[in-house]
Amino acid sequence: MAKLWPSLSLITLLQLFEFAISQRELATTPPLPILPLPTASQLKWQQRELIMFLHFGVNTFTDSEWGTGQENPAIFNPVGIDASQWVGVAVEAGFSLVLLTAKHHDGFCLWPSQYTDHSVIGSPWKNGNGDVVRELVDAAKARGVDVGLYLSPWDLHDRRYGHDLEYNEYYLAQLQELLNKYGSVREIWFDGAKGQNALNMSYYSADWFSMAKELQSSINVFSNAGPDVRWVGEEKGFAGSTCWSTINRTLLSIGSGSINVDYLNSGDPRGTDWLPAECDVSIRTGWFWHKSQAPKKLSELLEIFYNSVGRNCVLLLNVPPNTTGLISEADVQRLREFRYAIDAIFSTNLAEKCSIRASSQRGGKDGGFGTENVLDDDHLWTYWAPMGEGKKEHWIEITGTDEGLRFNVVRIQEAIGLGQRIERHEIYVDGNRVANGTTVGYKRLHRLEVGVVHAHAVRIRIMGSRGLPLISSIGLHFDPFWHPNAYLFSLFQLFEFAISRRELAITPPLPILPLPTAAQLKWQQRELIMFHHFGVNTFTNSEWGTGHENPAIFNPTGLDVNQWVDVAAKTGVSLMILTAKHHDGFCLWPSKYTDHSVIGSPWKNGHGDVVGAFVDAAKARGVDVGLYLSPWDRHDRRYGKDLEYNEYYLAQLQELLRNYGDVREIWFDGAKGSNAPNMSYYFTDWFSMVTELQSSINIFSDAGPGVRWVGNEHGFAGSTCWSTINRTSLSIGNGSIVDYLNTGDPKGTDWLPAECDVSIRKGWFWHKSQAPKKLSKLLKIYYNSVGRNCVLLLNIPPNTTGLISETDVQRLGEFSYAIDTIFSTNLAEKCSVKASSQRGGQDGGFGPENVLDNDHLWTYWAPRDGDKNEHWIEIRGPDEGLRFNVVRIQEAIGLGQRIKRHEIYADGKPVAKGTTVGHKRLHRLKVGVVHAQNVRIRILGSRGLPLISSIGLHFDPFWHPNGDRF
Ligand SMILES: *[C@@H]1O[C@H](CO)[C@@H](O)[C@H](O)[C@H]1NC(C)=O
Ligand SMILES: *[C@@H]1O[C@H](CO)[C@@H](O)[C@H](O)[C@H]1NC(C)=O
Ligand SMILES: *[C@@H]1O[C@H](CO)[C@@H](O)[C@H](O)[C@H]1NC(C)=O
Ligand SMILES: *[C@@H]1O[C@H](CO)[C@@H](O)[C@H](O)[C@H]1NC(C)=O
Repeated sequence: MAKLWPSLSLITLLQLFEFAISQRELATTPPLPILPLPTASQLKWQQRELIMFLHFGVNTFTDSEWGTGQENPAIFNPVGIDASQWVGVAVEAGFSLVLLTAKHHDGFCLWPSQYTDHSVIGSPWKNGNGDVVRELVDAAKARGVDVGLYLSPWDLHDRRYGHDLEYNEYYLAQLQELLNKYGSVREIWFDGAKGQNALNMSYYSADWFSMAKELQSSINVFSNAGPDVRWVGEEKGFAGSTCWSTINRTLLSIGSGSINVDYLNSGDPRGTDWLPAECDVSIRTGWFWHKSQAPKKLSELLEIFYNSVGRNCVLLLNVPPNTTGLISEADVQRLREFRYAIDAIFSTNLAEKCSIRASSQRGGKDGGFGTENVLDDDHLWTYWAPMGEGKKEHWIEITGTDEGLRFNVVRIQEAIGLGQRIERHEIYVDGNRVANGTTVGYKRLHRLEVGVVHAHAVRIRIMGSRGLPLISSIGLHFDPFWHPNAYLFSLFQLFEFAISRRELAITPPLPILPLPTAAQLKWQQRELIMFHHFGVNTFTNSEWGTGHENPAIFNPTGLDVNQWVDVAAKTGVSLMILTAKHHDGFCLWPSKYTDHSVIGSPWKNGHGDVVGAFVDAAKARGVDVGLYLSPWDRHDRRYGKDLEYNEYYLAQLQELLRNYGDVREIWFDGAKGSNAPNMSYYFTDWFSMVTELQSSINIFSDAGPGVRWVGNEHGFAGSTCWSTINRTSLSIGNGSIVDYLNTGDPKGTDWLPAECDVSIRKGWFWHKSQAPKKLSKLLKIYYNSVGRNCVLLLNIPPNTTGLISETDVQRLGEFSYAIDTIFSTNLAEKCSVKASSQRGGQDGGFGPENVLDNDHLWTYWAPRDGDKNEHWIEIRGPDEGLRFNVVRIQEAIGLGQRIKRHEIYADGKPVAKGTTVGHKRLHRLKVGVVHAQNVRIRILGSRGLPLISSIGLHFDPFWHPNGDRF
C-alpha cells in the first residue's frame, strides 16, 4: 500500500493543477453521408475517368466480330506484338487502366490455360510458348498502369458449354488462373452477350463473383448487374442525361434477355446500391481490328467524352490491336488529338482567380465548408456545404474580374464520398439561364448550347437535392472544338497446324458459398493479432473511465511505440490494434473535433500523437495496424443526441481512416454501461464510410460485417465453430446471441469468422497489481481459438511509462517459443499418405500428397466427385512409428468451410473426434502421447466434398493430460 502512495499523490496533484489549455476553436463536423456510398475501389475507378479496352484474339485474324469457335489456333500469329506499345499509347492518352479480352466468345484463350488446348499454346506465335496476358501485365506494371481482364461467359468452342456443372467448373478454373497468377487485377468484365441460338446454360454467377472478391482485394466486378460497376445500357458511349450511380440491384440481371436498358442508362435516385455505369464504345465501328475500318473523328470522340465522363460515368474506350499485334498508327494519332483537345479544354479553369459566394455555408465563415473549396485541387474531400436542411434554394456564384469571363463549358462536381445528391440544377450567366440539367454526380459537363458566353457572374442554382448538396469543384472552361450548329485469312484456316497432344488439367471443384473475401482470408492467416489498451485508464488504475478525467493525467514520459512493435514482431504478430479512443472519450490523437485528447496533456507539451507514432513505428517494421474507436463516449456532451453525436463519430472515423494510411481492422465495441444515455448509432453510415475510405479493411463488431465477436472474453471459441453465420440474426450489443456467435451456423449465408479477444492480464488496461497469465493458460487459449478456426486477439496493455511491462514481454517470449517448438516440426512430413479416393485420378493434381506441402490454402486433397463412400485420409509413418500428442487439420477454406464431423484413429484406435475444422483445427490428445504407425482421419459429415489442405502431427512437450498414457 505504502508503495502506491507516491504515484497516487502525483495523480491527485496533477488533477488539481489547472493545466493551461489554449482556447482552441473546435472544427465543425462534416455533414452525415446519404447512403449508399461507393467503396474505396469504386471511388478509385470513378476517378480514372478513362479506361482502355483491348479486343484482341482470333477475330483479329479472321476479320470478324463474333468468332465461331471453330477457328484453328494456327491463325493467331501476331509476329510483331508489343504490349509495351499498347501501354505506352494508354499512358500518353491518360488511361490508368487497360482491360484485355483474355477470352472472347470464340473460346480462344490469350494465355496458356491448363484447362484447354484452344489457346496461344496451339498457335505458331512464339512456337506456342507465348502468353499475351503475361506480356500485358508486365508491360503495364513497368509503367504503373493497372490491368483489367475480360473473360467471356459465352464460349462457342468448349464442349462443356451447355453442361451446367462442367462448364461452371471450367469457367471458375479459368477465373482462378487469371486472378491467382497475374498479380493485381482491378476490373473483371463479365459480358452478358450471347447468340440467339446459343445452348441453354445456367451461369453460377454468385460463385464467380464470390471467387473474384476472394482472390483480388481491390477488384471491381463489371456486369449488366454489377456488383461494382454496371453496364450503361448501350454501346454508343452515352450515359443518360440523368445518370445516378445508385440503382436497385434486385431489378437487374446479368443475362442479355430481360435487360431494362433505360433503367441502366439513368440509374435510380432511390436506388439502394451504389453501382455506377461504365460507357463502353469502340474507337472504330467494330470491337476487333478490321483493315477496312478507320477511327472515329475527333469531334465524335469529344461528343462521347462529354456524354460519358461529363455525365457521371467512366468511359471504356476500345482500341483494337491489329494483326501485327500493334495499335494502328491511325488510332494512335487520333488518341493523341483527343488527349490534346481534353488538355486544351480542361487544363485552364477560368474560375480559378474569381471570387465566389454562396447562399449559406455550414459552420459559418471559418467552418471549413466554404465556397473556396470548389476552386482547390481536391475534387472529393473538400467541398462547399450549405447550412440547414435542404428546404430552401441553394446557390453558389462565381464573379469574374472587370473584363469578364469568356467560356462555353461549365463543369460541376459533387463530393460523392458522401453520396450522390443533386437532382436538378440550372446555370445562369448575368441573370440569364444558359443551361439546366438533372444529376451531377462525380462530374457533370455542360457544353453551352448558346456557344461562347461573355459574362461577369455565373450562378449555379440547385433546385432539388437528396439532403444538402455538396459541391467539390466548379470549372469554367473554353472549348475551341465546340461550335453549336473483308480482309480474309481463310488460307490460314485451311492450314493444319500440328498441335501436340497435351493432357488437360482437371478443374478444381465448385466452391460452396459463402466464401471469404480477400481481406478476410488475409486476416484468417494472421492467426494471432495484438491488442493494446492504452489511455487515461492506464493512469487512473481503472477499466472503464468516467469521462471526467483531466487530460493532464495522461503523461507517459517514457512512451516508446517501437518497443511495442518490437515485442509484436518477435511474437510473430502481423497486425496490432490500438484503442484510439476508449469509453472515457479521451483521444490518443489530436482530433480537430474535441479538446479531450493528447492536446490537453502535458505529454510532449500537448503536441504528441500516439496514433501517428504507432502507425509510423508499425509501418517501419512491416506490421499492419488496426484501430479501436469506442462508440460509447462518456465525455462528449453530444453523446445522447443522435444527429450531433453520429456526425462527431463519423468525423473522427474520417480523421482516423484518411490521415494514417492503410488500416486493416476497425473495432466497433458493443460495450455500453447500463445507465448510459439512450443513443442510436448510425451503424450503416459508419460501415459504409469505412468501406469507402479503406479498401482492405475488416470491420469487427458483434455483427461484423467483416469479423464477428466470438461471444466471450476468455479467448475460447466453441468446439464447433463455423465461419458462416446469418448476419440477419445478429445485432450489436445483444446479450442473447452469444451462443450463436460462439459456434456460427453451418447453414449461415454470410462468411463472418470469429475473433477471440482476451487480455494477457485480468484487466484490459495496465494495473500495477496485475500479472500476466501463466504460459499453460496462454497455450490453452491458443488451442481453443487458433485451434478452433479463429483468430486470437491478445491484449498487451502498455504501462504508465508508455512501455509494455517486462513481465509481459517475458511471458510473450515463452509463449512464442512454445508455439515454435510445437509446430515447427511436422512429424508427418516424411510419411506417405493415401486417401479413400482422389479427384481426377492419380495425376489429377488433387492427391493426398497436397496436405504435406507448404501451401495450406490452394493445394489440397479432394475426393472423387460423386464418391458416396466414407472419405478418409491416412498418414503412414516409418517402421519405428510416430510419437505425437497433437493433430492439426486444415481445410481449403478458399472453396468454403465444409467439414461437419471427423474422427482420428491411431493404428485403428480412436484418439480424438470433433465437428468443424475450418482454417485450422488442433487436437491436443486427451490420451497423451501416442506411439503409432498409421494415423487415419475419417470425415463423417461434410457440406459437399471435404477438401483438406494440410495435416500435421506434432509433439507438444508442454502438454500433460491427467489421463493414461497411450
Ligand atoms: C428501389 O428501391 C427503393 C427502396 O426499396 C424503392 O423506394 C424504389 O421505388 C425502388 N425503385 C424502383 C424503380 O423500383
Ligand atoms: C499495325 O500497326 C502498326 C503500327 O501502326 C503498323 O506498323 C503495322 O503495319 C500494322 N499492321 C497491319 C497489318 O496493318
Ligand atoms: C430545362 O429547361 C427546359 C426549358 O425550360 C425544360 O423544358 C426542361 O424540362 C428543363 N430540364 C430540366 C432537367 O430541368
Ligand atoms: C440461416 O439462414 C439459412 C438460409 O436462409 C436458413 O436455412 C437457416 O435455418 C438459418 N439459420 C438459423 C439459425 O436461423
